[in-house]
Amino acid sequence: MSEQTQAGVFGDFGGRFMPEALIAALDGLDVAWQEAMGDAAFVDEFETILRDYAGMPSPLYEATRLSEQVGARILLKREDLNHTGAHKIRNVMGQALLTKRMGKKRVIAETGAGQHGVASATAAAYFGLDCTVYMGAVDTRRQALNVARMHLLGATVVPVESGSATLKDAINEALRDWVATVDHTAYLFGTAAGPHPFPSMVRDFCRGIGDEARAQCLERYGVLPDAIAACVGGGSNAIGLFTAFLEDPDVAVWGFEAGGDGVETGRHAATIGAGRPGVLHGARTYVLQDDDGQTIESHSISAGLDYPGVGPEHAHLAASGRAIYESVTDTEAMDALALLARSEGIIPAIESAHAIAGALRKARELAAEKGPEATVLINLSGRGDKDMGTAIEWFGLGDPDRVTAEPVGEPPEESAP
Ligand SMILES: Cc1ncc(COP(=O)(O)O)c(C=O)c1O
Repeated sequence: MSEQTQAGVFGDFGGRFMPEALIAALDGLDVAWQEAMGDAAFVDEFETILRDYAGMPSPLYEATRLSEQVGARILLKREDLNHTGAHKIRNVMGQALLTKRMGKKRVIAETGAGQHGVASATAAAYFGLDCTVYMGAVDTRRQALNVARMHLLGATVVPVESGSATLKDAINEALRDWVATVDHTAYLFGTAAGPHPFPSMVRDFCRGIGDEARAQCLERYGVLPDAIAACVGGGSNAIGLFTAFLEDPDVAVWGFEAGGDGVETGRHAATIGAGRPGVLHGARTYVLQDDDGQTIESHSISAGLDYPGVGPEHAHLAASGRAIYESVTDTEAMDALALLARSEGIIPAIESAHAIAGALRKARELAAEKGPEATVLINLSGRGDKDMGTAIEWFGLGDPDRVTAEPVGEPPEESAP
């Protein structure tokens, strides 16, 4: 399964490949995190914040109209209903609580879709910390609403113009800041990637997703799902869901990467599917790279999945065969977004729409094999409000002539109200 042979190493992946200046800080963070997780008062405070402030546990919802169309039972883990609108709040509240425990007064963060930036700014406001968020300039434009939210929450947002001006460049810039300020600053890393201890620490702060979903499913149906599914950017929502099920051999584990314009076009972010082992942001993992080993730019309609690396535990789960990773194109994701909106009245984040699209594709195959009892549990990692600008453009909704036109997407197949 996902055995960790030594701290931060997952099979052939993981580790810590970082500038000397950060090694002591990462060691300190590792020790502080281990101590905190062994301290019942810390764990209790973390759980209380998640429950009373952030709205956990998130519901497990049986999507009946969607299920009828697919011919399998589709369960949605509603992380979109969490405070700030995504799973990211779990990780950030854990790391910010740890920052407080370590006595640091300033936090920095990188963000792609802006969800982690908003969650970090929220945590900083909650704990009274100074907060700076690095965000690719391309992303500040496609996620303008989240930039405004961060400003309102009191954070400084730094647009990063270097490279592709997306998530990988924001991480580079945040790491540069951290090298210079590490004595008083904590880096709230936004996904289960990067150098040890981040992949393990972020996984543990997010693992409530799967722990809750597993218990909710057993309580309601008396059985585990046949398959679980999540989208994979760096991998925090996916590993947060997967961890609770990795020792259940009958539960299939599916991760969906961003296929962009199609993997064959070269414009995609399907790191596991089309990358090769290399080192990115301090960890050995699958990386999109050219023949000289240079990291190449990724592409996805979804800012949160637009990353040429992936968390090392996912690399290991893929290499070991415990989890299966496939890609979903921009078009497939946007079709799924429209389908979920019209079938269930839920507008998902575009990241989460990748999980919906991929999981429904595979659920149809599973249903053909197992019949309508086949159960697929999908993590709905976030809500789509932040993506309305992209949706307006994609579906042509900004056109005033559309006001009286047909709604977007295929109408769901007829089913009982
Ligand atoms: C709603 C949502 N889902 C998924 C992701 C992808 O991140 P990860 O792979 O770390 O879950 C993001 C990233 O911004 C996000 O905002």
